[in-house]
Amino acid sequence: MSEHLKREAAAMALSQIRPGLRLGLGTGSTARHFVDLLGEKVAQGFDCICVPTSEVTAAQARGLNIPLSDLDTLDRLDITVDGADEIDRELNLIKGGGGALLREKIVAAASDSMIVIADGSKLVETLGRFPLPIEVNRFGLGATRRAVAAVLAAHKAEGELRLRSTPAGQDFVTDGGHLILDAFFGRISQPEALSRDLLDIAGVVQHGLFLKMCKTAYVATADGVITLPAAKN
Ligand code: 5RP
Repeated sequence: MSEHLKREAAAMALSQIRPGLRLGLGTGSTARHFVDLLGEKVAQGFDCICVPTSEVTAAQARGLNIPLSDLDTLDRLDITVDGADEIDRELNLIKGGGGALLREKIVAAASDSMIVIADGSKLVETLGRFPLPIEVNRFGLGATRRAVAAVLAAHKAEGELRLRSTPAGQDFVTDGGHLILDAFFGRISQPEALSRDLLDIAGVVQHGLFLKMCKTAYVATADGVITLPAAKN
């Protein structure tokens, strides 16, 4: 998607943010635009306090003088604005393509509302085309990987399970010091059951299914930004 469309979705989300709110700041190339635009407003005196979902976003926000806090200091957040890798009709998501899914989910769960910003290519009928990121503890990786593979087989995954690596060929390590297994499903027909089955595995820290967490999505297309769910007449 062009950077122009990402920025339009981000600008739409920013237009919903009133002064004085406690915000969660997402991670990824679309969320990056939101943080940039928020930084411009902060430079003009806009009041907000923000919790970033990754070290990358924290560094960006610090560079823009956006006031930062954490979830030890703040008990709740008002709104989290974040990107997504897939969005279905019920606004269930796959996230974690950028590897920040654990902090993203903690921050979204601590927020009264989650706004997702994305382009039209992220909309799907059924989740699963994008490989599901599963964050796992490094200890016992082999055992965890076998247990995850068994869950994938039970949920009729069409593809493989791959340990994520960096472009330099090293293990990708999350901000929390964990590893990521990417699970190629093709189609996830029972996301709730899959979520439970994965979280039942001792070595699984979290997964990238965000179910019933997103309240509103702004999806940028060549014809403009669509708001989901669509307003009822
Ligand atoms: C990071 C994420 C991102 O929000 C997701 O990968 C979308 O990123 P982008 O806006 O770059 O397409 O979940 O962990």
